[in-house]
Amino acid sequence: VDGWIEVCDADLLEKSDVVRFDHGSRTYAVYRTEDDGYYATDGICTHGNTHLSDGLVKGDIVECPKHNGRFNIQDGSPARAPVCVGLQTYPVEIRDSRIFLRLN
Ligand code: FES
Repeated sequence: VDGWIEVCDADLLEKSDVVRFDHGSRTYAVYRTEDDGYYATDGICTHGNTHLSDGLVKGDIVECPKHNGRFNIQDGSPARAPVCVGLQTYPVEIRDSRIFLRLN
């Protein structure tokens, strides 16, 4: 209705974890940080055709499983080579313990 898409129950996502979320023809990555921050970025690493949902979350960083490039989860910026192009980020809200994502 207002551009927000429901992802899943917030409790299904553990702390320091990331899940893949497909919508339409796009793939997103939705994160829960250690301090219960919820964030979303594009789901595919900008360096190669690799799903960030298979990566590791440490603090505000996600590490790509393929070449260990890193991104900042909150703003999508590159945080370690070989990654040099950032990820688009998307607003996330928790409503009634469910995760909602706004696709721009
Ligand atoms: Fe992600 Fe290379 S594909 S760092």
